[in-house]
Amino acid sequence: MSDNNSALVIGASGGIGTALVQRLLADPSYTSVIGISRSATPPAECSPAECSTAPRLRWLACDGSPAAISATGVAISEAVPQLSRIIICSGILHDAEHGPEKMLEQLDADWMQAVLQANSITPMLWLRAVAAKLTRKQPCRIAVLSARVGSISDNQLGGWYSYRASKAALNMLLKTAAVELARRAPASKLIAFHPGTTDTPLSRPFQSRVPSDKLFTPHFVAERLLKIMHEANADGTLAYLDWDNKPIDW
Ligand SMILES: NC(=O)c1ccc[n+]([C@@H]2O[C@H](COP(=O)([O-])OP(=O)(O)OC[C@H]3O[C@@H](n4cnc5c(N)ncnc54)[C@H](OP(=O)(O)O)[C@@H]3O)[C@@H](O)[C@H]2O)c1
Repeated sequence: MSDNNSALVIGASGGIGTALVQRLLADPSYTSVIGISRSATPPAECSPAECSTAPRLRWLACDGSPAAISATGVAISEAVPQLSRIIICSGILHDAEHGPEKMLEQLDADWMQAVLQANSITPMLWLRAVAAKLTRKQPCRIAVLSARVGSISDNQLGGWYSYRASKAALNMLLKTAAVELARRAPASKLIAFHPGTTDTPLSRPFQSRVPSDKLFTPHFVAERLLKIMHEANADGTLAYLDWDNKPIDW
């Protein structure tokens, strides 16, 4: 079988990333699945024992530095002739010392830069790294995990300064990329995707007030996203969509 229907998942050890890798591996129409992660090895859920009938999983470890992203882009290029799905699902909201800010006094320049680096700049470095694979004729659907809180018009509650700003900046960067791709890779479609509140380490500290029917499993979200990508048309625009395939106002 020719290796011409390959999927790339960046942030493949995350909650949503792992579920995406599992679902892609369970779909025999994919000839290979490339998982990119800071972890050296795939999570147990993606092991050959769990996915014995699956397309091949190629796992590439990358520390996320700009140089490592570029080098990994070369490795991806050499591993597969083309990509039909690219999903960037890395991102941060909190770490051991920092959480989303509730007031101006909590702003911390280093943390703000770290969030912007991880959520806005790093995804674009990944797009740069795979740009050569986005050709005029090859259809490729690309989803980048954004968030509804990146919507400027939707911001009624305030707070979460760094995370909101990082996703709003991501949306603008993706919008700009969509304009470029419309010219150089018109068969590509770019989607900024809001998964809804999903039960992963990223949202875990903030789940207590989320009704249980509004807290999604990573598998539900992965299924929705893959379906949305499958049905998307390459129309030269950036779609900003939620898990229900509903557009979000910018
Ligand atoms: N969960 C939600 O409720 C929710 C809601 C809205 C939007 N989102 C967005 O969905 C995406 C996936 O989140 P998730 O819920 O799956 O979270 P998660 O389980 O915490 O996974 C996020 C992954 O991002 C990568 N990552 C972590 N720190 C990073 C850093 N400093 N730089 C670059 N990558 C880093 C890691 O992947 P590796 O370990 O593989 O390197 C990590 O596992 C994020 O962009 C998030 O903002 C999530």
